Order: sequence, then C-alpha cells, then structure tokens
Amino acid sequence: MKKKLLFLGPPGAGKGTQANLFCKKYGLDHLSTGDLLRDEVSSGSVLGVKAAEVMNKGELVSDDLVLSIVEARLVNIHQGWLLDGFPRNVNQANSLKSLLEKINQPLEGVVLIKVADDYLIKRLLERGRQDDNEQVIINRLKVYREKTSPLIDLYSKQGILEEIEGNADIDVVFSCIEKALGG
Ligand code: AP5
Repeated sequence: MKKKLLFLGPPGAGKGTQANLFCKKYGLDHLSTGDLLRDEVSSGSVLGVKAAEVMNKGELVSDDLVLSIVEARLVNIHQGWLLDGFPRNVNQANSLKSLLEKINQPLEGVVLIKVADDYLIKRLLERGRQDDNEQVIINRLKVYREKTSPLIDLYSKQGILEEIEGNADIDVVFSCIEKALGG
C-alpha cells in the first residue's frame, strides 16, 4: 500500500471523510490544511483572524502561511502521511516538490475524487460549516477550477494520479481508493 499520499478534489468531494478513514486504517498522519487553518482561527491569533477573513470568502489563504504550517508538520513524520487540501495551486505544488526532495520522501500517489457540482453544493449546504453558504461555495468551486484543477494534469503527467468516482456511498468510495492505491 502506498503511504505518501495526496487527496485532491473539489470542495465537498469527500477528501476529509476518506482521508480520516484511510489514515485510521493504515496508520498515516492526516495533514488537512483546512483543519490546521481552522485550528489557527479558533486560537484567535493574528494569523488566524487574517485567515478567517479569506476563508469566509472562499478564497485561498496565502501560500507562505500554508507552506509554513505544512513544512513544520511534515518534517517530523516518517511512517507515512496523507495531504488533504494541499497543494491548492501550482506554486504550492512546486514548493511541496522541493520540500519532499529535501526530506527525501517522494510523493507516491495522488487520488482525485470526482463529484459533479450540483451534488457538491447539496452536500455542503447540508453540512453547514461557516464557509458552506451558497455564494461562498460557488466561489470555492470557481477557485478550485481556476487554481487547483491544473494540478490534475501535472500529477497525471507524473503517472501517479488515480481518478475515483466520488458520487457513491462512503464505503464504496473507500474501497475504490484502497484498490487504486494497491490495497
Ligand atoms: P478545506 O477545509 O480544505 O475545504 P474544501 O477543500 O473546500 O473541502 P471540504 O472540507 O469542504 O470538503 P471535502 O472534500 O474534505 O469533503 P468532506 O469529506 O468534508 O479548506 C477550507 C478553506 O481553507 C479554503 O477555502 C481556503 O480558504 C483555506 N485553505 C485550505 N487549504 C488551503 C491551502 N492549501 N492553501 C490556501 N488556502 C487553503 O465532505 C463534505 C460533506 O459531504 C460532509 O458533510 C460529508 O459527510 C459528506 N460526504 C462525504 N462523502 C460523501 C459521500 N460519498 N456521499 C454523501 N455524502 C458525503
């Protein structure tokens, strides 16, 4: 089973849900930049207050802040990790590549979870997180298309991308991911 992983997909695709299940079963560290940023927001720090403004509009938080959060965590993990919600643009992907070369831990697999927009909107409205209102969701989808989706081609060209249909029961999606990653 591959153990240095990245889950990619639009907001609401199920990255967090599947990453939690996968990390529990296979003993990997789950690094969700969304969760780490929400922790920063809850702490009430200056950085958290700034991040909240951006997150509540559905825009991307600055690459520098996100990179510093990821780097601090990643350098201390050696048994396997799963990145969820990072990288989010080509600059972050290039920075991740350099960081992984530096710590000699190459990325082994990228899972793209695909779900059509109308299902995503319905799921997120039902969940009702702070940034789950219709206007912000539509912007998050736009940001995903413009900034994050170019990573699909990038990882596909590297031959490490697995595409999974995410509009199915959670356990069905999970089995497809396990199969794709060699489980
Ligand atoms: P982040 O927290 O990463 O949010 P997101 O990418 O918008 O993803 P979500 O958490 O909404 O969806 P998900 O795919 O994880 O789905 P989930 O499993 O939760 O980012 C939030 C914000 O932080 C960003 O907008 C940005 O501002 C900032 N940020 C984060 N990372 C950043 C970065 N690297 N750079 C810059 N800024 C960054 O599921 C969603 C719902 O669907 C749940 O209710 C779940 O129960 C349900 N569900 C899941 N799977 C299924 C299924 N198969 N069938 C039915 N329902 C399902």
